[in-house]
Amino acid sequence: MDKLQITGGIRLDGEIRISGAKNATLPVLAAALLADGPVTIGNVPHLHDVTTMIELLARMGVTVTVDEKMRIEVDPSTITECFAPYELVKTMRASILVLGPLVARYGRADVSLPGGCAIGARPVNIHVAGLQAMGADIHIEGGYIRARAGRLHGARLVLDTVTVTGTENLMMAAVLADGETVIENAAREPEVVDVANFLIAMGAQIEGAGTDKIVINGVKSLHGTHYDVLPDRIEAGTYLVAGAITGGHVRLKNTRPEHLDAVLAKLTESGAHITTGTDWVDLDMGGRRPRSVDVRTAPYPAFPTDMQAQFAALDTVANGVGTVVETIFENRFMHMLEMRRMGAEIRLEGNTAIIHGVDELTAAPVMATDLRASASLVLAGLVAKGRTDIERIYHIDRGYEAIEEKLAQLGAHIRRVPN
Ligand code: EPU
Repeated sequence: MDKLQITGGIRLDGEIRISGAKNATLPVLAAALLADGPVTIGNVPHLHDVTTMIELLARMGVTVTVDEKMRIEVDPSTITECFAPYELVKTMRASILVLGPLVARYGRADVSLPGGCAIGARPVNIHVAGLQAMGADIHIEGGYIRARAGRLHGARLVLDTVTVTGTENLMMAAVLADGETVIENAAREPEVVDVANFLIAMGAQIEGAGTDKIVINGVKSLHGTHYDVLPDRIEAGTYLVAGAITGGHVRLKNTRPEHLDAVLAKLTESGAHITTGTDWVDLDMGGRRPRSVDVRTAPYPAFPTDMQAQFAALDTVANGVGTVVETIFENRFMHMLEMRRMGAEIRLEGNTAIIHGVDELTAAPVMATDLRASASLVLAGLVAKGRTDIERIYHIDRGYEAIEEKLAQLGAHIRRVPN
């Protein structure tokens, strides 16, 4: 298994291109199951999770072709079984996203229950209850969600908790249902809007995506289309923190600054000078040490849980004391324990981390435990004195395209070596 070796202490300086969003690509690939004809999807990031989703579709008999530009063509007309096996779902929870499309389009789905996860329990009860309210007959058997349905019917769904993939699953199911579905307390994340735009491009009738009330009028069928997924706001945020933590200057191309409001506000508070255009962001720290910032995660448009670990890394070397409060997932602090091994001063009290910035972190062998935790260890490695070895980097490859190449482009001393 590969590991990353980072020699810290370089002030980053340069420009990189942001890839397509993982968390939009995965539901868009699942939504392609709804179409009557082939769809092509562009701006797809080269990521392990995307490969897993392609494998999942292929196992169902769906024809998936990928060209040299990572443009993916999905032709669902060759589907032979509506089945998501445990061996794939256990490696990627987002496999649950095929549930809604399969039930709506084919009237059946056998999808493994995802089970526990490194960052929290992450149940899927809201996905299941929503589909039941639309008329699906669902029971859990042998660790599988077994769903059967005729044509689904519209329903008013008030979600207990704001859930991103839950909103996407139910929206995808509702586009082919008979009548109107209203999703209240819907997630407002840009990725939800992207999925809605993709569905609309296929002929769906959806209003209100990006607000907490989405109204869907079911149509009889959806047609093929071409769609480019939106840029990854979490990848963008991660590289901006890389610039800030090293006192450097980073310019991002192919990004959407309007999706980064909460993150840019915190970076400005930490002392960064930020300028933006329609599709670029420039962060200049001018060699300064960052100031500590307090962050509290919450659903979009508030501060994203997927940026919590990266800001914790920033606080470990910032001037002052910062608090990080995680309100979305109950166990998303594993990186704090690893960063302590690098000399970080972090006190944990329930879902709050109190971080006293230290003058310097020192390199240590550390272990990635989930995707964003790994990103935070990379950031800590960029400023630590000495060489940090990060193990289990398959977590990073799930969500960051060519991270060592992009960081090297910014001047970082980083390489991937076989363990
Ligand atoms: N929840 C329930 N019941 C449900 C669904 C969710 O109680 O049926 C709870 C969860 O346990 C959690 C909260 O609702 O406490 C919010 O979770 P959500 O469902 O929004 O998370 P998700 O859809 O499983 C997506 C992203 C995550 C991101 C979260 C929060 C994808 C594929 N994944 O997960 O991304 O952290 O939203 O924004 O879109 C990542 O990319 O590293 C990642 C983990």
